Amino acid sequence: MSATAQHRWLAQYPELGTEPLPIEPYISPSYFEQEREKIFKKVWLYVARVEELPNPGDYKVKKLHACGTSVIITRAKDGKVRAFHNMCSHRGNTVVTESGEETYGSSRAAVMTCRFHGWVYGADGRLVSVPQEERFYSCFDKAENGLTSVHCDIWEGFIFVNVDPGTVQPLVDYLGDYGRHFAGFPYDKMDFGFTYHTYLDCNWKVAHDAFAEAYHVDTIHAGSFPNVFSTGLANVQLFGPHRTCGVCLNLAAMPPSPVGTLANKLARGSLVTSGGSSMLPPTINPDRRSDFAFELSVTFPNLLLHVSEGIWFTHQFWPIAHNKTLWEGKYYVQAPGTYSERWALEHAMTLQRNAWLEDTATMEDTHRAMESGAKTVQHLQDEEILIRHGIVSVERYVAA
Ligand code: FES
Ligand SMILES: [Fe+2]
Repeated sequence: MSATAQHRWLAQYPELGTEPLPIEPYISPSYFEQEREKIFKKVWLYVARVEELPNPGDYKVKKLHACGTSVIITRAKDGKVRAFHNMCSHRGNTVVTESGEETYGSSRAAVMTCRFHGWVYGADGRLVSVPQEERFYSCFDKAENGLTSVHCDIWEGFIFVNVDPGTVQPLVDYLGDYGRHFAGFPYDKMDFGFTYHTYLDCNWKVAHDAFAEAYHVDTIHAGSFPNVFSTGLANVQLFGPHRTCGVCLNLAAMPPSPVGTLANKLARGSLVTSGGSSMLPPTINPDRRSDFAFELSVTFPNLLLHVSEGIWFTHQFWPIAHNKTLWEGKYYVQAPGTYSERWALEHAMTLQRNAWLEDTATMEDTHRAMESGAKTVQHLQDEEILIRHGIVSVERYVAA
C-alpha cells in the first residue's frame, strides 16, 4: 500500500498533525479541573432517551459528577420534557432522593415532594405546596421559588442538558452537521436491550480512547470475536468537536461454534452485516460496503454513539475525578418476535458483554502506567485519528 493510502486520514485532516501527544492531560488534576469548568459545565450532555419518560409525571434523576450537580429530567402534564437541578428551594435537600447514578420515578399527579419538610414541586418546576406556608415571612414568594431550571433540549429522542446558567448555543447548532449525519435512524424502534455500568480507576479520556479505534479488535477481542478481523475505518468525518467513521470488520471464518452459527442466523441484529436493504440513513455507510459493521461516533465530549443494522448502542464516560470514571454501556435492539429470536439475542448480548469486558480491561492498567511518568507522550497511527481529534478538541476548549 502506498504511503498516501496508509496515511489517508492525515491527508484529509492535515491540521491535526502527526506528532506524539502528551500524557499530561490524562493524569493532571489541574487539567481535569479545567475540563470540568470549560467543557462539562459549558456544553450539552446527553442524559436520557425520551422513551425513558413516556408519560406525564415520569422523571429521571441523573448524577453529573463533573458538573457538581445532579439533574431531574421530567415530563410534565403539558407533555414537555424539562430539566432542573435536584435541589429544594427550602434548605437545599435533594428533592428526589437518589438511589444510584440514575434514579427513576413517576407521579400520577406529576409532582415531586422533598422528603425533608414536604415541599411539593410540579413536574414543570413550579413550587405548588409548602406546609405551614403562613409561617414564612412576607419576603417569601412561592412563585419565585420553583426548581432551578437547566437548559434542556431533544435531538432524535436524545435528551440533552446544559448546566451553564447563561445563554447557550442551541443544541441543533451545537450538533450541526454531526446531528444531520445521524438524523433519520430508527432509534425509537429499538428500545429493547441491556445496560451495564462500572467505575474505573482511570481518566475519562483513557476510557474514551479505548473505544475510539478498531486497531485493537484483532488482539483485545480475540477471545469474544476470534473470527472477526478489522478491515479499518471508512468515511472519517470531523464535525467541529464531534467525529464519526464507519468501522469495517470481516468474518474470516465461520462463527467459532455451532451455537454461534445458529444464533447468528436467528438474530435480527448483527454487527457483521451482509449489505442489501438497509435501515441506515444514506449518510451512514454511503457506499453500502459489505464489510461495514457499525458507525462509531463521538458526540463531544463524552458520548459514543454507534449505529448498525438492527442495533444501536452507546458508551458514556462520566468523569468523577482525574483518575476515576463512570462508564455506562447501553445496547438497543428490536424486541424479539419469537422465542428462538429471543434466545439468539441473548447470545448476541452475551458476546457484546464479553467484548465490553475486554474493552474495559485495559483501562486501569493504562492509567496506572501513565501515572508512573515513565513515558510522557503517546504515539498514534493514522487509524487512531478519532483519538487524536478528541485530544485536540479537548485542548481547544481548555485553552479557550
Ligand atoms: S429542604 Fe426540602 S422541604 Fe425542607
Ligand atoms: Fe473494542
